[in-house]
Amino acid sequence: MPYIRSTGLTGHLSFAIAAAALGSAFQHGYNTGVVNAPRDVIMKFINATYTERFNEEPGEQTVTIIFSIMVSIFCIGGMVGALGTAYVAETFGRKGSLLLNNILVFIAAGLMVFSKMAKSYEMLIIGRFFIGLNSGLNAGLVPMYLIEVSPTYLRGAVGTIYQLVITITILISQIVGLPQVLGTEEHWPYVFGMTLIPAIFMLATMPLCPESPRYILIFQGKELAAQKALTWFRGTIEVHDEMDEMRSEYEATKLVPKVTLHEMWTNPVLRTPLIISVVVMLSQQLSGINAAIFFSTKIFESAGLNKETALYATLGMGSINILMTIVSLVLVEKAGRRTLHLVGLGGMGIITVLLTLCMALKTLVPWLSYLSIIWVIGFVVMFATGPGSIPWFLVTELFGQGARAIATSIAVAVNWSANFVVGLSFLPLTTVMGDYTFLIFTVFLAIFWIFTYKRVPETKNKTIEEITSIFRQQIYQ
Ligand code: GLC
Repeated sequence: MPYIRSTGLTGHLSFAIAAAALGSAFQHGYNTGVVNAPRDVIMKFINATYTERFNEEPGEQTVTIIFSIMVSIFCIGGMVGALGTAYVAETFGRKGSLLLNNILVFIAAGLMVFSKMAKSYEMLIIGRFFIGLNSGLNAGLVPMYLIEVSPTYLRGAVGTIYQLVITITILISQIVGLPQVLGTEEHWPYVFGMTLIPAIFMLATMPLCPESPRYILIFQGKELAAQKALTWFRGTIEVHDEMDEMRSEYEATKLVPKVTLHEMWTNPVLRTPLIISVVVMLSQQLSGINAAIFFSTKIFESAGLNKETALYATLGMGSINILMTIVSLVLVEKAGRRTLHLVGLGGMGIITVLLTLCMALKTLVPWLSYLSIIWVIGFVVMFATGPGSIPWFLVTELFGQGARAIATSIAVAVNWSANFVVGLSFLPLTTVMGDYTFLIFTVFLAIFWIFTYKRVPETKNKTIEEITSIFRQQIYQ
């Protein structure tokens, strides 16, 4: 069927992408951004609860510490969840795990929504940990499912959808949390309750989609069922070529013993792509993107905007993040992953230098502070070009079925850990380094650019078999 081969994006595949990505990436993005706008009202709640319980007012520092724990425990949950990905993905399957993962959303939402009524900030903290667990699992499971069900020539575009939903939901969370919407003293628990909507959406749609055909064939050994699932996704029974490709991967996995952590590290065929995966994930977080995403309002204010305009500039920045991710989705199958990642990292590196110059010289040349607003936005544009989306799916492209889940687990856990470190250290670093803080990211970006240039292979339009054979060949060179 030439038509199907040329587009590949059948109605069924689109439905499955929406079912898997909307519900899951929502949690990742939404809960990343959700605590920004209602910060003051939540701090007030912590203050009031503490005062009532201990009969004394907490100091400002105590409230800040409790609030920061609540913010950052999300990433700890993400890290633990990511580490669990391999186990659940292999035990319950990709689809089964995604569905089960929603239990964590119900627990988290219950704890967070009722925390105000129960006068317990601990419930908010534990709830954020649970939603972090859920998001960490999602960040491994969804790209894995999306890549496994997509035809080779659409893998990058489909993989980018995970990041696209993250960017959209970060913006949604920032809007929902505004005082004009739900971010008020009375209504803020509902901001956290919104997490239930995507969970219900996924529970309603995902059961209608088949499990990943690769999982069915390679883990369950069910050839006919795999073919049936693949036929559903492709909208044609002409799936022989793809079945052949999957079968050869199956045969290859049968020949080698089950991949363990030890094997990942000692076998160079696996170690090289593992190092690439980890570094690519680090390059996403240590680029400093979340310094811009979390603290943009503060950065804009220090560049001379008033509070309200700074808030709108942040929303504008979020919208540009979305638009650019869409551009990257279109470009990724043409320009390739490696090129886009290099352009993004390089652009971000140059911008951090320009931004630093503008910040440092703004007292001498006042209009430079306005230019720095443009640089912060440019920083996000460059991020969305490649480093935002590519790491999520590149990891799943670099491994065959046997090692994919373990590698994803490790790489995604590294991503969350680095996210945690940047989130926690950026503000303290600004007190020490002031206007020069972004130079730390310049150094990281330069290192990651060189690494990507030297070590990351292009995976565009290659089958998984072709990609993994690159690493096999490297050993014999
Ligand atoms: C990526 C990062 C996340 C960041 C987001 C911004 O998804 O993993 O930490 O907040 O991009 O778009």
